[in-house]
Amino acid sequence: MNSNTSPDNYAELDPAKIPAHVAIIMDGNGRWAKKRLANRVRGHEQGMEVVRKIVRACRKTGISILTLYAFSTENWQRPKPEVTALMALLKRFLKTELNEMMDNNIRLNAIGQTERLPEGVRELLHKTMGMTEKNDGMLLNLALSYGGRAELTRMVRDIAVKVKTGTIDPDSITPELISDHLYTGGMADPDLLIRTSGEMRISNFLLWQIAYAEIFITKTLWPDFNRDELMSILKEYQDRERRFGKV
Ligand code: FPP
Repeated sequence: MNSNTSPDNYAELDPAKIPAHVAIIMDGNGRWAKKRLANRVRGHEQGMEVVRKIVRACRKTGISILTLYAFSTENWQRPKPEVTALMALLKRFLKTELNEMMDNNIRLNAIGQTERLPEGVRELLHKTMGMTEKNDGMLLNLALSYGGRAELTRMVRDIAVKVKTGTIDPDSITPELISDHLYTGGMADPDLLIRTSGEMRISNFLLWQIAYAEIFITKTLWPDFNRDELMSILKEYQDRERRFGKV
């Protein structure tokens, strides 16, 4: 998608129709690198630069929650050097972005099996989450070692245990109760889901939460994604009519 919006186009958006929660499947780092005959890790590095810019743009736009699919449960199966490089990048991101998050009132949160992350990453992650805990300008949710089916499985187990111990009556299991038992408990569901690099897949991302999300798929590879394209997607989102199954 090519954007023809001007560089200072935040004003063109309708403030009343800014999506509260935007979720992004950041895909295409490997292809971006391949096109340049570079190592895949180079693509992830460039991808991290784009993460920085998009976080800033979302904050400026007034989006309340931004959820980024940074590492899936399936990504553990990638070659070890790539996994190691991604973990190192994540650490670098957490270190370099702390000031930015504090200055811009951004709270960091992680969703996924964070217990599987290497100790150094986990410690830094929890430290950053603690330091940004009181920030309320925007919530940045990093999906790390995240898988939708694993999340749903965990939710079913948690609820089953509560039923077994008598804390929950089966009749009180509602969609709201299910939502509350997900990693995203207490958060609004995504209004908008963006996927880069053209693949028409959900890839096990936020399976329950995206029930009514508007989906935008762009052919742009994540390392080439930018603020202007985000703005044009937001504009198109504002022009869509959301019906939530009604007429
Ligand atoms: C998908 O591209 C991307 C990932 C598996 C990792 C996403 C990571 C980043 C954007 C950088 C680090 C992020 C943070 C938050 C520090 P791919 O490798 O599957 O691309 P391909 O499909 O073209 O091979």
